[in-house]
Amino acid sequence: MDPRVAIFISGRGSNMNALLEAEKQSRLKGRIEVIISNNPDAQGLDVAHYYHKKTYVFRHENYKSREEHEKAIIRILKKHEITHIVLAGYMRIISEVLINKYPNKIINIHPSLLPAFPGLHAQKKALDYGVRVAGCTVHLVTKDVDAGPILVQKTVPVYSNDTEETLSARILEQEHIAIVEATNLLLEGKFRIKGRRVIFEEDE
Ligand code: GRF
Repeated sequence: MDPRVAIFISGRGSNMNALLEAEKQSRLKGRIEVIISNNPDAQGLDVAHYYHKKTYVFRHENYKSREEHEKAIIRILKKHEITHIVLAGYMRIISEVLINKYPNKIINIHPSLLPAFPGLHAQKKALDYGVRVAGCTVHLVTKDVDAGPILVQKTVPVYSNDTEETLSARILEQEHIAIVEATNLLLEGKFRIKGRRVIFEEDE
C-alpha cells in the first residue's frame, strides 16, 4: 500500500502547499489523504480545499487535555489509514499519545538550523544573535520539542540589512524545498536511527 499522509497545520499553510504541489506534479512518494488543523481560521484550510483535500479541524480548546485532543485526532487518522504525519507549521506540542502511535513516522519543520534557536520566533533569535548563516531543519518528532533526529537541513546567508521579515522569507523558500525532500525520505523509509543520527541505507 502506498504511504498515506496526514499534514497538520495551524496557519498559512505554505509548507503544506509545497507538498500538495509536489503531489500534483507526481513528485511525492505517497498520497496526501487529510489535512488537520487545530485552528478553524487557518488560511491553509482554503488552500487544502483548492486541492480538493479532506480537512478536519480539532479545536484544542474543545478538549479537556492535550491527550484527549490527540485521541480524537488519532480516531480520524485510523479511519483514513494514515501511515505518516507531517507537521507543517502546526503550533501545538504533541504528546507521547500521538508519538507512540507513529514512532519515527512523524516529521516537523522548524525555521532554524537546529539545535540553534528552538521554539518560537526562531528567525528573530537568529538575527538578534548575529549568525551569518541561518536555515531550516526537518526532523523526526520525539517527545522533546524541536529535538528529534535530523533528516534534512538547508542553509541561507544572513545579510547585515536583513529584517526578521526578509530573513524569514529567505528561509521559507528553502523550507518549501526541504519539506518535500524530507517527506519523501520519510515515506521511502530507507534509513535507521543510531543515537541521534539518521543513517541512510545508501551510506552503509
Ligand atoms: C514555518 O516557518 C515553519 O517552519 C514553522 O511555522 C511556519 C509555518 O509556515 N514551524 P506555513 O504555515 O507552512 O506557511
